[in-house]
Amino acid sequence: DWTMAAFRQQAIEQIRAQVGSGRVVCGLSGGVDSSVAAVLIHEAIGDQLTCIFVDHGLLRQDEATQVVDLFRDHYNIPLIHRDASDLFLGKLEGVSDPETKRKIIGGTFIDVFDEEAKSLGGADFLAQGTLYPDVIESVSFTGGPSVTIKSHHNVGGLPERMKMKLVEPLRELFKDEVRELGRELGLPESLIGRHPFPGPGLAIRIPGDITREKCEILRKADAVYLDEIRKAGLYDAIWQAFAVLLPVKTVGVMGDGRSYDYVCALRAVTSTDGMTADSYPFDHEFLSGAATRIINEVRGINRVVYDVTSKPPGTIEWE
Ligand code: XMP
Repeated sequence: DWTMAAFRQQAIEQIRAQVGSGRVVCGLSGGVDSSVAAVLIHEAIGDQLTCIFVDHGLLRQDEATQVVDLFRDHYNIPLIHRDASDLFLGKLEGVSDPETKRKIIGGTFIDVFDEEAKSLGGADFLAQGTLYPDVIESVSFTGGPSVTIKSHHNVGGLPERMKMKLVEPLRELFKDEVRELGRELGLPESLIGRHPFPGPGLAIRIPGDITREKCEILRKADAVYLDEIRKAGLYDAIWQAFAVLLPVKTVGVMGDGRSYDYVCALRAVTSTDGMTADSYPFDHEFLSGAATRIINEVRGINRVVYDVTSKPPGTIEWE
């Protein structure tokens, strides 16, 4: 597409003009936006860019390895991988309020990111994969005027407390355009087509308090669910699909015994921008197949339900 090729060239020139010989750090989340921003900026300024990947311990199965493999090993982009899961999970211990969780994660994220940026000897610029809808949503998100439905955290939530100037090469683009730019830059389709994943990660998919054990159970259930979706050829038809681990235990039968385990809720929605969404109309057969696999393969879950709520009135995530 000639427009994207032109956008790429123009963006590269703008980045070079803005940054000069300065040092840039970019927070990577493993999502499409920060990945495209990082590859674009790396193309513009090479090793003046260092990526920082803060692993909060709330990622999906194999996610951290995938990010490191792609950026450090495939693109040769300097990358700091900080495993801060003990810190995050420690601070979240016993916390069940959704907004408190979001604030703890957002605040800790900034602290760790700042620490890593300082350990590099400081940076002049902070690069972010902020998109146009992020710019709008941070003004008024989902609800009416001045109603905060959820405090958004993403790698784009960093700036206020940090003294760096911002580099935001995607701020005029929508999601589909970022994907197109990613293709133009040669990023793998597996990354470009990825469903969005929220900054606070699995924390907002575990209503109630978060433990390592619950994260582990949810990671496994989520991986089985997504495997089923991919096998059924439905991944690309869905905006976002994930499992939620409910803080409810129910009774079941397992062999000739009684089980008393968690309920897992499955969510899948169609959407164009995440602002409104419809529950994906799976066949019953698909759902019962996924449920059976989850219960058979994931210890700790003995019941599976499907969320049929649209947005509004629901939100996509559960917290
Ligand atoms: P909701 O749950 O508000 O989500 O309907 C709309 C879209 O935004 C994602 N989401 C987030 N993304 N940081 C992010 O980067 C966040 O704090 C956050 N909260 C929700 C959600 O996954 C969906 O795609």
